[in-house]
Amino acid sequence: MLRPQGHPLIAAAIDLVMAPMDRLRPRVVQHARGRTLEIGAGTGLNFAYYADDVELVAIEPDPHMLRRARARAERLGRAVELVQTGAEALPFEDDSFDTVVATWVFCTIPDAAGAAAEVARVLKPGGVLLFVEHVHSDHAPARAVQHAINPAWKQMAGGCQLVREPVALLEEAGLEIRDLRPWGGERWTVFPMLRGDAHKAP
Ligand SMILES: C[S@@+](CC[C@H](N)C(=O)[O-])C[C@H]1O[C@@H](n2cnc3c(N)ncnc32)[C@H](O)[C@@H]1O
Repeated sequence: MLRPQGHPLIAAAIDLVMAPMDRLRPRVVQHARGRTLEIGAGTGLNFAYYADDVELVAIEPDPHMLRRARARAERLGRAVELVQTGAEALPFEDDSFDTVVATWVFCTIPDAAGAAAEVARVLKPGGVLLFVEHVHSDHAPARAVQHAINPAWKQMAGGCQLVREPVALLEEAGLEIRDLRPWGGERWTVFPMLRGDAHKAP
């Protein structure tokens, strides 16, 4: 299991850095149903938006993030089973979740293709991954800028990359993408976002 050390300063700063995205969280998370897994939950910024009857499990490899996520769950009075692990080797049985949630996380997972395969494995048939991710632009000048700044960005932003193609990875993992739409930024910016659902065949 992957257990990076992370950094306490990044864990302390991330709520501020992610604040512009906060208004988008409930629009993803409110659709979670049943037994739900959140991957790369960070400091637990999504926890407030799950319906009360969702049975929530969350994984996060960074111990500093995890500590903050645990404290947030306690403050909210929200039951969450928190597990310290990476998404590339999920310690859960096949076909065991109705919903998986991923918000701005495939950008950072070192083996994103391995994580996509694990999400497909643990989803029940008919289950769905709800995601919002920032992605590689399809606009040539923006792509060039993304590639130019990606090495420095990755260093500064805790491993986050600007050039990931999560939708292609999810399709390669056998999931069917539905309701894909740009969110919070046009594709010609260096930070274009896509929100969508990835379904496992029933
Ligand atoms: C940009 S943050 C987003 C956190 C959270 N999903 C949110 O919406 O606030 C990316 C997260 O991915 C986590 N991460 C890094 N490597 C990972 C891995 N191998 N598996 C799962 N999550 C990982 C980081 O520790 C961090 O919490």
